[in-house]
Amino acid sequence: ILFITIGIIFAYLIGSLPTAIWYGKAFFGLDVRDFGSGNAGATNTFRVMGKRAGIIVMLVDILKGWTATNSAFFLAYFNLIDHQDLVLYKLFFGLAAVAGHIFPVYERFKGGKGVASLLGMILSIQSEAALLCILVFLVVFLIFKYVSLGSMTSALAFPILLCLPRFSPNQPIVVLFAFALFALVVITHQKNIVRLLHGEENKAKIRIRRR
Ligand code: G3P
Repeated sequence: ILFITIGIIFAYLIGSLPTAIWYGKAFFGLDVRDFGSGNAGATNTFRVMGKRAGIIVMLVDILKGWTATNSAFFLAYFNLIDHQDLVLYKLFFGLAAVAGHIFPVYERFKGGKGVASLLGMILSIQSEAALLCILVFLVVFLIFKYVSLGSMTSALAFPILLCLPRFSPNQPIVVLFAFALFALVVITHQKNIVRLLHGEENKAKIRIRRR
C-alpha cells in the first residue's frame, strides 16, 4: 500500500505541473487565468497565446496524464502490484494526474479542466478507443467550432466505446470508472455548458496577444 500511495502522490504531482500557467508566465509574462475563459488549459492557451503555445501546452498536458498512468507499469515490473490489476492502478494514477491538473498544488489549486491529461490517461489505457475519441472530438469541433462541446462529447464517447465488445475491458469496473470520468469532465465544464445553452460560448478562433 505504501508504493501505491507514493504512486498516487507522484501522479498527482505530475498532473499538478501547471503547463499553461508556467508557459504564459515564462514566455508572455501573463497568467493565462486572467484572460479568455480563465482556464489554465491548452484551449485557453491557444486563445490567449496562439497556436504554437497551445500545441506545446496540449502535448505536455497529454504527456502528463500518459506518464502518470504508465507509472503503474513500474510497480507491476517490480511485482509491487498484481499484474491482473494493472488497469485498475492505471485508472487510480491517471485520475490522480487529472485531479492534479484540475487542482494544481503549485498554483493555489486553480488549474484546468483535465481534458488533455485525461486523453493521455486513456491513450495509455485503451489507445485504439482513445484515437476514436480524438476523431469524435475533431468531428464535433469541426462541425460546431466549440472546443468544450468536442471535449465533453469525446469524454462521453470513451465509456460508450468501452461497452462495445471490441474495446470491452477485462474488469467491468473500468467502464463505470470511464462514465465517472465523463461526469468529472461535465463538472469542470459547468460554465461552458451554461454559455453553450445561452449561445455565448466562444467559437474557436485564435487571437494572439503578445506583450
Ligand atoms: O479542454 C478545455 C476545453 O474543453 C474548454 O476550454 O478555455 O474554452 O473553457 P475553455
